[in-house]
Parts: sequence; structure tokens; C-alpha cells
Amino acid sequence: MHIQFENGIFHLYNQNISYVIGILKNNHLGHYYFGKRLFGELREDMFRMDQKRGLSNYIEKDDMTFSLSHELLEFPCFGTTDYREPAIDLKLPSGSRIVDFKYITHRTYTGKKKIDLPATWGKEALNLEIDLYDDVAETLITLTYSLFEGINVIAKNVLIKNLGQGSITINRVMSSSIDLRDCHWDMVQFSGDWARERHEFVSKLRPGIQSIYSRRGASSAQHNPTAILKRTNTTEFAGEAIGLAFVYSGNFIIQSEVDSNQAVRLQCGIHPENFSWQLEHQMSFQAPEAILSYTSEGLNDLSKQFHNVFRDHLIQKKWQSYKKPVLLNNWEATYFDFTEDKLLDLASEACELGVELFVLDDGWFGVRNGDKTGLGDWFVNTDKLPNGLKFISNSIKSKGMQFGLWIEPEMVNENTQLISLHPDWVIGDPKRSKSHGRNQYVLDFTQTQVVDGIYNQLIKVLDDCPVDYIKWDMNRNITEAFSVHLTADQQGELHHRYILGVYDLYERLTQRYPHILFESCASGGARFDPAMLYFAPQAWTSDNTDAIERLKIQYSTSMFYPITSMGSHVSEVPNHQVGRMTSLRTRTQVAYFGTFGYELDITKLSDDDKLDIKKDITTFKQHRNLIHTGDFIRLQSPYFSNEVSWMVVDEKKSEALVGWYQVMAKPNQQPLILRLSGLGSNKKYKINDDQVYSGSYLMTHGLLLRQAFNGIEFSGDPAGDFQSRLFHLVEV
Ligand code: GLA
Repeated sequence: MHIQFENGIFHLYNQNISYVIGILKNNHLGHYYFGKRLFGELREDMFRMDQKRGLSNYIEKDDMTFSLSHELLEFPCFGTTDYREPAIDLKLPSGSRIVDFKYITHRTYTGKKKIDLPATWGKEALNLEIDLYDDVAETLITLTYSLFEGINVIAKNVLIKNLGQGSITINRVMSSSIDLRDCHWDMVQFSGDWARERHEFVSKLRPGIQSIYSRRGASSAQHNPTAILKRTNTTEFAGEAIGLAFVYSGNFIIQSEVDSNQAVRLQCGIHPENFSWQLEHQMSFQAPEAILSYTSEGLNDLSKQFHNVFRDHLIQKKWQSYKKPVLLNNWEATYFDFTEDKLLDLASEACELGVELFVLDDGWFGVRNGDKTGLGDWFVNTDKLPNGLKFISNSIKSKGMQFGLWIEPEMVNENTQLISLHPDWVIGDPKRSKSHGRNQYVLDFTQTQVVDGIYNQLIKVLDDCPVDYIKWDMNRNITEAFSVHLTADQQGELHHRYILGVYDLYERLTQRYPHILFESCASGGARFDPAMLYFAPQAWTSDNTDAIERLKIQYSTSMFYPITSMGSHVSEVPNHQVGRMTSLRTRTQVAYFGTFGYELDITKLSDDDKLDIKKDITTFKQHRNLIHTGDFIRLQSPYFSNEVSWMVVDEKKSEALVGWYQVMAKPNQQPLILRLSGLGSNKKYKINDDQVYSGSYLMTHGLLLRQAFNGIEFSGDPAGDFQSRLFHLVEV
């Protein structure tokens, strides 16, 4: 990887990608190129041309050729000839919103600097900082770009510093803005709602603006803060694509704007609506990080870049090689209705079957017998657990298992000690009624004293009771966004300050308890975003635990997120979210491709099922390292096919595990074909301890799969709807 600066052109590149920025004649930054690696000399005339155009405004007197409207820009400003969406919108002390940021200097260095937000890290990262200055605004903007060895990504962040005497207001700052020369891209987004998060939607870019966003105070189940631009013919295995991930958990926007010249501006940042930030003299504002990747080799290759940068440079080092424990969570087994005996029965049975971590979900604290009370009172509910939490934890740990606990620290119910002591700790406008969500209200995490209050309660519990894992939940979004503790001018800062409060609590808890594995959760996957991975290396993917629904959710979640971050549990049937019946085998073989666990009352299972689960857990443990460290490859998409498949393959291409699923049974067909990928062409593999095949055969022809039932005879494989098969390949 290199960062070159020659003839006013920055060329950031590694073996596969190039990112080129030029200093334009007015000293604005031009975005010259982002794509496949460029070789040889780079000159300005290769990327831009002065040209006369109709109906344009020009910057220099007597020059009818240079207008920012026609330039591809790196950090566009509004007010000096470019009418597209800007990267920055400031209100100056004069009331003016004209800004004109120009290049003044730059520097490069090795080792990523820590910023005041969750972001990628890396001692070997190569960095470029470019300073832009507007001498009327007296404001300095530093754009930082980072490259990581062997990964085709560029991480970017923006810092704004007010060097003037007056106070300025930031109304908009995009963490990344690039202009692409042509607009023949499709935008892929990952959208949905509760229990159907991150479904894939593809739409053609068209003139004007297309955006995905959240204004809910969290990154949301409705739109994930990630997006892809791909060519229409790009597949999982071939073709161009650009991926964009925003490392932030609050309100965001990702947008593409196709202009009248068929160029496209792709931006992401904090959502500018309901956002403003007062920046006093000498103060700085750090905008969150954005990560860009480019591939010419299809979506699997794009995913690989994000998986690698998240696994190696975003998740904390100590979790990278950590063996994520097989867990049993009591939520779908008991909901709020449990006793000490019930929990210990579940844990004993779980231990017998090989489960390594028992997670006590919602309901252990305050007066929490349903969702109307308890949140905010973080002390043990001794009616339910008369011997306290420590007793439960010690009993479980004495079996050789780990103990985990659910918390929802950002929320409060009305009938709690916390709210009677601190009625002003809730977000809302006292002049208006407060809407509730799941009978709860959002604590005012913009305030340090509120975060302190929750922190102090939690450390009392965690200092006393040995805990190995925490599931941090968040079950409603912000409404009536107003804080009685912020001034009138600061109300626009509420959403961002709230998320800073969340990060602050995460930081303090993860520092104090470095051994605790955090799993983030928000009614399932409503805050499954890159920034959360910085604190919590795994996330509860969705409250929807149905195996067939999970095919789509896990398939598209894997577009950006490594499967080692995706909580996936086997639950009971009929499934609690959709009522579907699926076999234990299918549920298990879907859940294997994630951080594996169970979420059902195992004490009620038949002996046969228990025996199967014991074997399934043993199998998972045999493959755990491969699943969590290998390359994940999507083979057949649930969005286009009745047969779905994916696989993981180790770095040496010597071992692989393949999951194959058939949604609906069909009669009288040819044998189905399972074509694999990522293997060594010249290598030979034994499959499920049986036949040997060459890598080239498996990847070009593909494995023939006999139908389970063709309408006349059974093959011996399980038949009917919702089937799955697992193939373990070992090089021979
Ligand atoms: C949310 C989570 C669930 C469970 C419940 C508990 O819905 O997503 O997994 O923890 O809260 O109330």
C-alpha cells in the first residue's frame, strides 16, 4: 500500500484498488477516481477537462471553462458554483452559509490515530491527512484517509475545527463524499423492519437523489447504514461494485445523487435533519468514520474486504481469536416467567448437552414481571431469584459453564425507583406528552449524570456477580427529541450527544470488565451496525429465529458483516415469530453459520432431540474455528432461488463447510447442482468422509445432489419442505 503525491495528485493505492484526489485550480479537492488499481503516471488531463458549457456559473473572471458544477469533487461545498448536495453546510457568525474550503497542506504517517468515536484501528495502517481551510469561515477541516495491508478498503473521517473568534453552527457534514464519472450503477440497500431486518433491495440509479437513512436515533432495522453500488450484471462472483459502510449507530444518511452530467455523488454521514452542532472558538467536531471498498470481482469479494476490515481492524484484538461460546438463552424458553429452579434446570440440561454459556435474559431485575415495569432499576429481583444473582452465577459457573446477563441500560419504565428519583432523566418536552414504545421511555444519555447513574448501578451488580457475557438491548427509538438539560441552541445536538452517551457507557463498561463478551441487540437487529462491533463483537441478528426467514436475513447481513458477528440460535417449533414448522436439522444447520446457540426450553425436548442436540453441538465445536475464521462465500441467493447455499473455507483452502438449503420441495426434477467456490482447483477433497472430488470439478461442474423425493421414490435424505444438508470438505 502506498500514498503518493505528485503534480498536485494524491494516489492512494494497494495491489488492487486506487483512490485518486487532485488539487483543482481553485484549490478545492477534485475526486478523480476510485476503482481498480491504476498503474503508471497520473496527470490532471487524464481526469478532467476545462470546457465551456451552457447555463453555468464560473469562478474566475474571464474564464468560461471552470465551474465546480462540472467537476468531480472530493469534499464539495455549497455556494461557489456546485449545486449538488454538499459535504459540508456551516452557518457562520454573519449568518452566511457560503463556504469555500481549499487545500492548504497535507501529511502522511503510519499507525492509525484514535478518534473520539468507534473507528478502525491498526499500527500498520498508512494514513493521509489533508487540511482544507476557509479563510472567511476561519475554519479548518482535516480529511483523514487510511489504508490497511492486504484489504481493499479506504477508511475516511472528517474533523472540523473552528479557528475564528465567533461560534459557528455545523448543519451538515458528510463523512465521505465521492463523485463517480458514470451513473450506470444499481444501488443495493439492506432494509426492513422488526423481525425482517436487512433484506436486500436493488434499484437503478436515476437522475436526482435516492437515499436510505434513519432519523430514529439508532441506525435502525428499517435501513442498515451500509450500501452497495453495483453494475447491473455484477454477480456474487464477477463484476464491479463499490461498498460503503458508515461506522455509526445513530441517525444517518447514505445517498446517491445523479446529476445532469450523468455523474453520481455518493455520500454518507450523520443525517442532517434534526442535526446541528454549535462549534465555539478552538473547538473541534469529529464526524464518524466511513469505509469504502471497490471490487471488480463480484459481491463475495466485496464482502470479504468488509469482513476482513471489521474482523481485523474494528473488533477489538482480544476477541479476534476468541472461541465464541455455544450459548443457551432463556428468552424464548421462559420469557419473563422463570424461577431460580427453572433457570438452574435449564442450565443443568444445557451443560449436559455441551452448551458453554448460559444467558439470563430480561426479567432478573427491579419489579420486572412483564414489559411495563423494572427498566432502570438495576438490582436483582429477589422475588424471582431469592438467593440473588451471585448464587445463580456461581451455580452455573460451578458446572463449568459461563454466565451471561441481559441489560437494557438506555431505557426506563414509568413505575420505577429511577423515574421517581429522577423524573427529568427522560428524553421529552415537558410541554408535550411523551410517546412510549414497549411501555418504556428513553433515558437522556446526552447527560453525563444520567450515564453515571446507570453505570453506577450496573457496576454494583457486575462487581458483585461474576459475569462473562452481556447482551445489551435497546428496544425503542427516540420520539419527542428534546432535553431539558440542553440549551435552545443545543437541541439539534441531542441525537448525536445521545449516541456519544451510549458509546461512553460502552467504553466505561468494556474498560472495567475487559473479560466480558458483549453482544449488542436492539429488538433483534435494529442497531446492527459497524460501530457497535467496536464494542460488542457480536450482535443479535434478529428476533426472528425461523430458519427459513433467517436464510434471507443472514444471507444479506453477510454482505458487510462477518458471520462471527451474527448471533444465530436454534429455537422451538412452531416458530414464535411466523408459526412455521421446520426440522431440528434445518434450524441447526442454518444457525451454525453465525455465533451459534439455542433459545428454547431444552428441558421439554424428547430424548431423541436431546441426543441430536448433543451431537450437533459436538459437530459445531469441531468446525467452530473454521466457521469463525474462514472466508464466508455466498453461493445461491434466497432472493432468487428455491435452493440456498453458502460455505466457509479456510485460508489454506484445505477445509470447507457448506450449508445447502431447499425452501420448498419439488417433484420430478433432475439432480440439483451445488457449485462451490473458493477451493483449490488442483486440490482434491473428501466430502463427509466419503467420495473424493477435485476442486475444479466442484467449482466448475458442481456436486450432483440427489433429490430427497422425486414424486416416486425417496433417496434416503429427509424429504419435504425446508430441508438442509451440510457438507464437510477435507483436502486429501
Ligand atoms: C428484545 C430482544 C430479545 C429479548 C427481549 C427481552 O426483543 O431482541 O432477544 O432479549 O428484548 O425483552
